[in-house]
Amino acid sequence: MIDAKRLERRMTELARIGGSGTAVSRLGLSADEQRARDLVGAWLSAKGAQIRRDAAANLFARFAGDGEAVLVGSHLDSVPEGGRFDGALGVLCAVEALESLVDAKVKLRRPVEVVAWADEEGARFGVGLFGSAAAFGRLSPGVANRRDRDGVSIAEALRTLGERGDPAMARRDPTEFAAYLELHIEQGPRLEKAGLPLGVVSDIVGIYHARVAVRGRADHAGATVMTARADALAAASEVVLAVERIARGRPDAVGTVGEIAVRPGAKNVVPGECVFSLDLRAARDHDGLVREVLAFVTSIASSRGVEVSVDELARVPVTSLDPRIRDVLGRATKSVGVNAPEMVSGAGHDAQNPALSGVPTGMIFVRSTGGSHTPREFASVDDAARGAQALANSIRELAS
Ligand code: GLV
Ligand code: MN
Ligand code: MN
Repeated sequence: MIDAKRLERRMTELARIGGSGTAVSRLGLSADEQRARDLVGAWLSAKGAQIRRDAAANLFARFAGDGEAVLVGSHLDSVPEGGRFDGALGVLCAVEALESLVDAKVKLRRPVEVVAWADEEGARFGVGLFGSAAAFGRLSPGVANRRDRDGVSIAEALRTLGERGDPAMARRDPTEFAAYLELHIEQGPRLEKAGLPLGVVSDIVGIYHARVAVRGRADHAGATVMTARADALAAASEVVLAVERIARGRPDAVGTVGEIAVRPGAKNVVPGECVFSLDLRAARDHDGLVREVLAFVTSIASSRGVEVSVDELARVPVTSLDPRIRDVLGRATKSVGVNAPEMVSGAGHDAQNPALSGVPTGMIFVRSTGGSHTPREFASVDDAARGAQALANSIRELAS
């Protein structure tokens, strides 16, 4: 049986690391993320798991058995000023599910590994799903040289955490795994609207992340006539609005420019350079969405006489989760009294990496309110405990 009180205590304890009030800022590959890993490792080590960290700073806690392992977990990092539940709840519920099975002396034939993926959000280095991509050999080449705003590279950040600095060494053989399970807050309002505590994920949207640099010409804001300018920010602004228009015009598509920096950045200087992010997602025709936005970027460069370069950070295709695991999760959610609907995830998840590597993968969503990537995000202990019980029942079925 899931111990809801223990789960709640640990939610509070974990949220203190990098937390203030209901806000959590626990960036990937930071000292705080490491502290969170150490805490989770200590809980699982006390239950008899073998603890290991890999070259990408992922934490694995293995309970021994025979044959391919059942892998279950989520991530421990957050966005800046994020909430207490995104990622963390999935790790906490995986820990609780395993503890409940160990406490009940359930005999599991297969090995079970709890995983806490490093740097899922990519908030610091721009590379999302970092740890799971490393483990499944899906990192883009040269990724370890990417730098944060202070000029620290991923390789250096890993070395600070005691690793060798080469995340590609974290690669594992996907055939080691019989299944991957991840519980996560929904991060949207559908379960709340339906009055249901749990859902089962059918598909995860395709995600494209890039940094676009626009180079115009810095000049005097008073002495340069409007027809003689190459204003990088004005060009970027056209792209920002086009992203909104293009995404609105496509079913199941969303597009966001969430970061923008202007140089030199003074009120009396025509912006000479502008760097901004692109986040483009769709459940259908994701490639078409990306193509349409990039074609617009190219056309703006020529019509405004600016130079544009696009640095692609990630391109993850639309990911369908395994029908057999979805059935297992459907039964498990029924066993805790929930008629869980199947739903598409608009957020990206580490689950995409094992799924795209051929590991049978499934996800449970827990109802959440207050949105996500903000301190308002919330999931109740009751819902979380129900999700953890469904997760435990699924592990039991898959590992027996
Ligand atoms: C991860 O939270 C994402 O950006 O979808
Ligand atoms: Mn997130
Ligand atoms: Mn997440």
